[in-house]
Amino acid sequence: MVRTVIKSIVESKVGNGDLLVKGWVRNRRGSKNVQFIALNDGSCLGNLQVVVDIEKFDESILKKISVGAALAIEGKLEESSGNQSFELIAEKIDILGEANPETYPIQPKKHSMEFLRENAHLRMRTNTFSAVFRVRHYLSHAIHQFFHQKGYYHLHTPIITASDCEGAGEMFRVSTFEPNQFPKDESGHPDYSQDFFGKATNLTVSGQLEGETGAMALGGIYTFGPTFRAENSNTTRHLAEFWMVEPEVAFNTLKENRELAEEFLKYCIQFALDNCPEDLQFLQTLEEEREKLLPENQRNELPLLEKLKFVTQNDFVHLTYTVAIDVLLKSNHYKKGKFEYDVKWGIDLQSEHERYLVEKEFKKPVILTDYPKDIKAFYMKQNEDGKTVAAMDILFPGIGEIIGGSERESNLEKLEKRMIEMDINLDELWWYLDTRRFGTAPHAGFGLGFERLVLFVTGMTNIRDVIPFPRTPKNAEF
Ligand code: 4AD
Ligand code: MG
Repeated sequence: MVRTVIKSIVESKVGNGDLLVKGWVRNRRGSKNVQFIALNDGSCLGNLQVVVDIEKFDESILKKISVGAALAIEGKLEESSGNQSFELIAEKIDILGEANPETYPIQPKKHSMEFLRENAHLRMRTNTFSAVFRVRHYLSHAIHQFFHQKGYYHLHTPIITASDCEGAGEMFRVSTFEPNQFPKDESGHPDYSQDFFGKATNLTVSGQLEGETGAMALGGIYTFGPTFRAENSNTTRHLAEFWMVEPEVAFNTLKENRELAEEFLKYCIQFALDNCPEDLQFLQTLEEEREKLLPENQRNELPLLEKLKFVTQNDFVHLTYTVAIDVLLKSNHYKKGKFEYDVKWGIDLQSEHERYLVEKEFKKPVILTDYPKDIKAFYMKQNEDGKTVAAMDILFPGIGEIIGGSERESNLEKLEKRMIEMDINLDELWWYLDTRRFGTAPHAGFGLGFERLVLFVTGMTNIRDVIPFPRTPKNAEF
């Protein structure tokens, strides 16, 4: 008999009759005569209720049906009278794999998030994490669908690179030498010319630079891959390894870039609303339970689903960095000295400033553009004023920066001058500069931190809980 997935039973896509299901025991209860097994196979949130008539089965089988065990069950599907729409009357049970109740960590009770992080290899077997990772899948699918429909091509950019796109120096070195056997040059410095690639290499912080070369050939491209940052940020918003989505589009201006980003975010969120109603409803309930424990002024104003709908149905607010500084300076919050960090033109906005704008002032996603050039990367288009660049950040409630991007400097001379000012090696990036030497054109792009989007959509509170195996300072278990 072929296996039927539980999702198709829950969605009433199969009728009454004989079938075979396979899955893991989530719960077991019942009496001396009849036992009920809640079986889950990961295809959906819901469990299938399996009815086991004790008389029909050997004690040797029955005693192995514990939480976490893998079973294959043949039986008859029947409409049930209780709140379960269907139940399976078991006729044959095979124990595929036991799970000793003395040692299996995931029991049907509340586990703390910390405990589940320590058991990240098993946490996907809980309702919460299976819901999160199903939503993550749908968001990933939405991203490909969105760009594919727009006619942009998915470009695989390298993970090992010799360049530092963001110029922040937050890179993980890639080498085949043992540290104590690293060859030295005459002046005693590491001699990378003897290393595997013949030069110093690292894990990429962004696929943008290679992405730009693709855009200048294919018109519109996007990358979607892992990126690595060796920043020692132990926050609920930072990972050392995260997935970034980076579209890059030839001939787009900053305005078109901003409009693309807004349309893109709304599309992805709507896709999750359309495809994951059950998981999102569950995550909303979870959020409500969590928030009951918080003081009222720290709770979200809207339940999860309403918050998501609100974002898809309302225009984002757009203002320049300069205006945003003005708004902050005029706020009562500032006048009462409630910001920890000072506000003045030229500062890199702190997360408290960003959150004020989004959560208190505008109560909507905010797009800030035209930042001071000194706090942004070398490749951004220099504005006429000589002080700002055509940068854009999108700020989300509860998240802060979710997208960072810009129009790119397409003028070779201006770009080279800026690189020299910022101490960036022109020779190393000869190939990047070729895009400006040969058929240069205006173009723009952005990067979405994929986990920050998943965090927003699932209502989870820590970025470590929306990636299967988080990589953070002092943590690379699994
Ligand atoms: O603003 P960032 O650094 O921009 C870039 O890397 C550009 N090259 C993108 C481009 O224009 N193609 O990073 C983009 C986004 C941020 O807005 C944030 O959402 C996310 O990546 N991000 C992180 N997410 C998780 N953990 C971290 N340590 C992150 N650093 C950035
Ligand atoms: Mg940024």
